[in-house]
Amino acid sequence: MNDISLCIMTRALCQELYRSWENDPAIYADMDLFAPYQYDETAVNRYFDAKQTPTRILFAIVKDGRPIGELHLKQIDRERKECTLSIHLQNDAAKGHGYGTQAEKLALKYAFEELGMAAVNADTVLKNTRSQHVLEKVGFQYLEEKDGFRYYRCVRN
Ligand SMILES: CC(C)(COP(=O)(O)OP(=O)(O)OC[C@H]1O[C@@H](n2cnc3c(N)ncnc32)[C@H](O)[C@@H]1OP(=O)(O)O)[C@@H](O)C(=O)NCCC(=O)NCCS
Repeated sequence: MNDISLCIMTRALCQELYRSWENDPAIYADMDLFAPYQYDETAVNRYFDAKQTPTRILFAIVKDGRPIGELHLKQIDRERKECTLSIHLQNDAAKGHGYGTQAEKLALKYAFEELGMAAVNADTVLKNTRSQHVLEKVGFQYLEEKDGFRYYRCVRN
């Protein structure tokens, strides 16, 4: 049984998620761009609004009724039947308990079964070995390393 579920992100969930958000250095190839996260209600509303597009579904990863992360299915191409997955848990307390693995599995199921995708793509910066491990664990195949990123793809069985 899953500890977590994926829900379509609402403005309220997004605000709750970002109130306790921490940026993770693992996703920054260039650490000069890294800065600790500062909550700003207006900026979160702007972020939420910017993500409401036809080519993206933004999910909240929810545990015990609270958001513990976000997961995007983005660059949804309904003709080519592919999209790209990205994920970020809320803070260090949420990491390392298997929730990222569970969320990625649920997202793949949603992409294949609900959206009718034939393939889901993902990429990580080179140093993000935790994310690479989880992607491979849930069924992504490593494709190539290019311009500082490792590219992955999961094809529907
Ligand atoms: C990447 C992320 C989604 C993974 O979710 P999570 O809940 O922390 O991961 P899980 O607990 O499900 O699984 C972690 C796995 O990685 C392994 N792991 C932990 N640190 C690792 C490391 N530095 N290198 C390789 N594997 C690592 C764990 O042993 C575990 O594997 P196992 O289940 O085979 O033992 C989450 O850590 C996160 O949000 N990180 C910050 C943002 C990010 O990196 N997003 C991905 C951008 S591409």
